[in-house]
Amino acid sequence: PEPPAEAAVPQAGDPELVLLRRIGTVDPESLDDYRAAGGYNALRQAFKIGPARVIQEVLDSGLVGRGGAAFPTGRKWDATARQPDRPKYLICNADESEPGTFKDRVVIEGDPFSLVESMTIAGYAIGATHGYVYLRGEYPRALQRLENALAAARERNLLGTDILGTGFDFDIEVRRGAGAYICGEETAIFNSIEGERGEPRSKPPFPVEKGLFGKPTVINNVETLINVLPILEMGGPGYAAIGTGRSTGPKLFCVSGTVRRPGIYELPFGATLRELLELAGGAPEGREIRAVLLGGAAGGFVRGDELDIPLTFEGTREAGTTLGSGVILVLDDTVDLGGVLLRIAQFFRDESCGQCVPCRVGTVRQEEALHRMVNAPAGRRTDLTLLREVGGAMRDASICGLGQTAWNAVESAIDRLGVFPLEPAGGSGGTSAGTEQP
Ligand code: NAI
Ligand code: SF4
Repeated sequence: PEPPAEAAVPQAGDPELVLLRRIGTVDPESLDDYRAAGGYNALRQAFKIGPARVIQEVLDSGLVGRGGAAFPTGRKWDATARQPDRPKYLICNADESEPGTFKDRVVIEGDPFSLVESMTIAGYAIGATHGYVYLRGEYPRALQRLENALAAARERNLLGTDILGTGFDFDIEVRRGAGAYICGEETAIFNSIEGERGEPRSKPPFPVEKGLFGKPTVINNVETLINVLPILEMGGPGYAAIGTGRSTGPKLFCVSGTVRRPGIYELPFGATLRELLELAGGAPEGREIRAVLLGGAAGGFVRGDELDIPLTFEGTREAGTTLGSGVILVLDDTVDLGGVLLRIAQFFRDESCGQCVPCRVGTVRQEEALHRMVNAPAGRRTDLTLLREVGGAMRDASICGLGQTAWNAVESAIDRLGVFPLEPAGGSGGTSAGTEQP
């Protein structure tokens, strides 16, 4: 069994925390405790200012999606609110499955009412009467805490019809995933809820126009939604003052691997990777950080001598990698990088839904080539050529993000970490994959 939420938050109790402030200090099963700790003030504020102003605050806040893609949340809400088609739906994507990502589980287990309140605000803003939480099937404690929170909110008329006498009707249903990573892709979630195979659809049309059951839909990640509470409490511009100009607000980071205190950390955008790793205790005694995987299996590596990069969307992009959903997977000098890459390749091969050829075939070929490169260094030059061709085809021609990013981590390990040095070419001496194109 997973450790409880509060055990995964080494900063628990720190008064500076915004998103994690209640985790470990408030009973996650008590609505009264949640309210005593400021819960439901944001919903009252939303009802006071009305849906259009709520959307304006979210636009002003600069909030972007925390699931990994960083699309402006206010733009999604605004576009959906403007659609004449009815009904409209709200979905919380809680099918968190990116390897190394566990922040949404901790939030739902440790502060489930914050998600219920945020979703109620989002539903009110966009004009939805029905919301879904699509919850990862392997999160039983999160399911129990969420179901408890939903029942308690219904009992106090914080969900259901005519919420708090405002005339607003809204309720939330939980749907559980069944172990497929691809069902976290937003359009695969629609298919899954509709009872179809969990396969991605082509976009556009985007969900804001045609989403669940072909209706306008906002789909947001758990962490994205709970940011709406401080936005309404501080006002959009007040929230935007946290972080940097282009990455606003606080961010949750999932620190795992070879660090002394793994867990979920909250820092304002703009802190450096080094500062975060110092907070997490650094590498174990006597070891050195060799590399850090940012953004998970779909992300990219940075070297141990590049820890001063700022943790912002723009900073990681400029450094040639991605922040993604906040995965910080630390690898010290004892870790077998070839083995890590093989594991990532196996993961993508297993999780490809098989709908489109570049990804269905490419993820298999990628794994085969990596296997040979790890076990038979003599043929690396040919396999490296194959990997680059297959990786390029997956990136350019796959339908969804899984295939488009399945080569990212492998490519960055080769180019940035020099993980597979090539055999000497024609007796002219050795070279590395990072310096020579085959
Ligand atoms: P995307 O870039 O296609 O879309 C991001 C969001 O913006 C979507 O909701 C999309 O509908 C919306 N959008 C994009 N253009 C739009 C437009 N013109 N108008 C209205 N809405 C628009 O990215 P995608 O495929 O949704 O997500 C990929 C990310 O997911 C990756 O960065 C990856 O890191 C992350 N990911 C996270 C996982 C997790 O467990 N948190 C698991 C797997 C992937
Ligand atoms: Fe399925 Fe892969 Fe194509 Fe996505 S890219 S639709 S996961 S086969």
